[in-house]
Amino acid sequence: MTILAIETSCDDTCASVIDVDGRIRSNVISSQRAHDRFGGVVPEIASRHHLELINVVVESALSQANLTLDEVDLIAATQGPGLVGALLVGFSTAKVLAGARELPFAPIDHLQGHIAANFLLGERDGGIPQAFEPPFLCLIASGGHTLLADVREHEGFETLGRTLDDAAGEAFDKGARMLGLGFPGGPALERMAQEGDPHAFEFPASGSRSRAGRGATRPFGRSLDFSFAGLKTSLLYQLRELSPAQTRERAADLAASYQAAIVDHLMLRTEQALSVTGLDRLAVGGGVAANGELRRRLENLGMSVHVPAKSLCTDNAAMIASAARFAEPLAYPAYLGLDAYATGERPR
Ligand code: KG4
Ligand code: ZN
Repeated sequence: MTILAIETSCDDTCASVIDVDGRIRSNVISSQRAHDRFGGVVPEIASRHHLELINVVVESALSQANLTLDEVDLIAATQGPGLVGALLVGFSTAKVLAGARELPFAPIDHLQGHIAANFLLGERDGGIPQAFEPPFLCLIASGGHTLLADVREHEGFETLGRTLDDAAGEAFDKGARMLGLGFPGGPALERMAQEGDPHAFEFPASGSRSRAGRGATRPFGRSLDFSFAGLKTSLLYQLRELSPAQTRERAADLAASYQAAIVDHLMLRTEQALSVTGLDRLAVGGGVAANGELRRRLENLGMSVHVPAKSLCTDNAAMIASAARFAEPLAYPAYLGLDAYATGERPR
């Protein structure tokens, strides 16, 4: 069986073909650089670009897989959460492709997709393709979400914690912007931080070790949530105390200290979740998984940590196809009336 999937929840136009065993046959990602000069994704621009790109991206996913649409058995697409205008482009395209051929269709939750990136066959252990199988704890940290998921099976997950305000990647982006670095901010801030002292400034993320008391004093559910807004404000206050020349001089120390605070917060919640669930295997996804400091800290956990290839960590359609392998697809025409859902609006 062959699955074609489409993902357009944010600013990447993505299509992928995988085999039923989780082998990737193509994974096409067209990133929209048009947002960079605005310092963030502009929803209307994203939707328009998806419209221009979607047909070409689907065609190249099929041709790279050496397939025609007639050889596809199941079509999947991200239903939400995300930017609803952006989602609608990919979701409608996928429904129309499936409907025209009366194929089954699988509407996929974007976060389930990030988790399912781990189920794809990757080359490990001397080139033998292997998937990372449940049970495991999954940390997803990107520009749009920050989530800790308890994954016991392929079909679903339990949310242990999520961000109450900014996502981890957003915190990187906003910090980088305040320091006058480029967008996306994560890689730029990480580069700047390399020369800096992570102890030079103190930026307390809310729920840091000292304040949260390792979660022992808080009810379990809330203690695993993240918050990055306070961190951003503390950087702002620090910058107000420095002249522009001092800020330039101390940019590396500011970046290193700010990065350390984000990574500390991610690590603290992850370690708490591991201890509460008793899980001893960890998967990490989302754009922030590319961060070297986070990776170093994860390696020191002394357990099996799986970080999929970068192209599978950031938004892509192979992860949506992977989730579709374990989803209950809808038969034609039951899916034609389905709608996409925006962030925080998942239908019950
Ligand atoms: O998963 P992703 O490509 O897109 C979504 O947001 O869904 O993640 C992008 C985010 C951006 O906020 C970017 O600044 C962050 O991931 N990022 C990083 C690094 N590379 C990308 N953050 C920290 N360090 C990095 N090396
Ligand atoms: Zn994502």
